This record gives sequence, C-alpha cells and structure tokens, in this order.
Amino acid sequence: MTRRIIVTGGGTGIGLAIARRFLVEHPELILIGRREQPLAEAAAALREADQASTVTTHPCDLTDPDAVADLAARISDGGAVDVLVANAGGNLGLGSGDLHQLADSWRADFDGNVLPTVLLTEALLDAFSRPGGRIVAMSSVAALRGSSSYGAAKAAVNAWVLWMAVRLAEDGVTVNAVAPGFVPDTDFWRPRIEADPGIVANRVAPIPMGRPGTPEEVAEAVAYLSAPDAGWTTGQILQVNGGTLLGRG
Ligand SMILES: NC(=O)c1ccc[n+]([C@@H]2O[C@H](COP(=O)([O-])OP(=O)(O)OC[C@H]3O[C@@H](n4cnc5c(N)ncnc54)[C@H](OP(=O)(O)O)[C@@H]3O)[C@@H](O)[C@H]2O)c1
Repeated sequence: MTRRIIVTGGGTGIGLAIARRFLVEHPELILIGRREQPLAEAAAALREADQASTVTTHPCDLTDPDAVADLAARISDGGAVDVLVANAGGNLGLGSGDLHQLADSWRADFDGNVLPTVLLTEALLDAFSRPGGRIVAMSSVAALRGSSSYGAAKAAVNAWVLWMAVRLAEDGVTVNAVAPGFVPDTDFWRPRIEADPGIVANRVAPIPMGRPGTPEEVAEAVAYLSAPDAGWTTGQILQVNGGTLLGRG
C-alpha cells in the first residue's frame, strides 16, 4: 500500500534527507515549507531519484493557524495521512540584549519550533490512519543539554510528544521524536559556520564518536519510528548524537 507521508521543512537539510529516505517505499510525499523555491528544487530532485513516488509541495507558514487549517483541510481531502514528520523549525533566538529583545527571542524560538509541530498535528488529527498512523517530531540534544530559548522550545516539543503519545495510543497512532546532535550540513548551521569556522571543532569536541552527524543518519532514525512495524514504540525521544548524551531515551 502506498503511504501518504508529510515532511515539514522537507525542502532542505534534514527534512530533505528524510524525504529521500522514504523513496524506498515509493510513497506519496507531501513537502511543506515557507519558501516555494527550495520546495520545488527538492521535489524535482526526489522525482528524478524515484519516478514511482509522487511528490507535491505546499508553501505554508506553519506558525499561522489559519494557513495551517486551510492546508490541513486540503491534505485531508486527499485521503488519510500515514506519516507526519514534523521537522520544521530552527534556532531563531536573537541572542541577549535588553528585555524586549530577550522576550522577542524566546517568543521566536517558541513560535518557530513548537507551533509548526503542534498546529499541523492538531489540524490533521482526524486524518491520521487508525491504526498505523505515525507522528515523528524533530527535537534536539539542546532540550537536554541546556541552551536558552532554543533548547527550552525543543523541551516543550518533548513534553508535547509524551502527552500526544498517550492521547493517541488507543487509536494505534504512535508519537515520537528524534533529537539530533550537531548536524552541520544544513541551512541551520551553514551561515553560522561561514561566520565562524571554529564552531565545528568546538561542537565536535564533546562528541565521543569524534565527528558530526549527517542528515542521512537522522533520517534513518525517523525511518525506524515511522515504520509500519514500529507500532509498539511510542512516547520516545530518540537521541541521535554520536554518544554526546549516553543512556537517554
Ligand atoms: N542541524 C542540526 O544540527 C540540528 C540539530 C538538532 C535539531 N535540528 C532540527 O532539525 C530540524 C531541521 O533543521 P535543519 O538542520 O535541517 O535546518 P534547515 O535546513 O534550516 O531546515 C529547516 C526547515 O524548516 C522549514 N521551516 C522553518 N520554519 C518553518 C515554518 N514556520 N513553516 C514552514 N516551514 C518552516 C524551513 O523552510 P522555509 O525556511 O522555507 O520555511 C526549512 O526547510 C529543525 O527543527 C531543527 O531545529 C537541527
């Protein structure tokens, strides 16, 4: 059976690697992001890689409740949703400054990481395949290591995952998160590394495996949690970080 799979932030970085990982099952892929161009480029590359998959793109700001409601209605009209990978997000904090800037920074990280995940999931709630639906949110090692507003926003995603897992358990829908460590081959890091190349050595230093992660390695963890046979794994935050945090599920 062809699964309908949504990947938010699927036009770039980790999201694009996740979308590519799903091609093995020739799915109907639905990519969401704010900018049309990266989505269109990603869709073209994915179609070229596997002509048996279907790829559609939906530009949408997932922090906007009206836009999300509209998009979710259109997606639901097309049939049940088998997998939602709520990957859209980023480190949007503006750093320290006066209290106004601090407030803006915390709001930006909360809005940008929590709302895209929560709003789209809630808007699609009736559309998930029951049983068998899979929801995978994108957290971060920052949620457990301590990192101001970005880590706090990802910790909120973790708490939401636990709540949703219990809420949807009876329906046979699993809800989990993947929490990556340092994955520099992404738009998330590229501008920061260009500005300060020393970041890479600093970030790699505490990683026991002695190297950063790749988008593909994160995608592999998402593939497991999204698999049809992974129906008894729910409410978990899967750490993917080269051993940076040991023994934390
Ligand atoms: N790279 C890392 O080291 C790392 C580590 C831990 C966690 N993460 C998490 O992994 C996820 C993917 O990040 P990435 O590293 O792959 O960086 P990225 O390439 O910047 O990916 C972020 C994606 O999310 C989309 N997006 C952001 N806000 C959105 C919104 N409001 N509505 C719709 N789409 C939105 C972006 O597209 P548009 O800009 O076009 O909207 C982009 O495609 C993020 O949640 C990030 O926090 C990354």
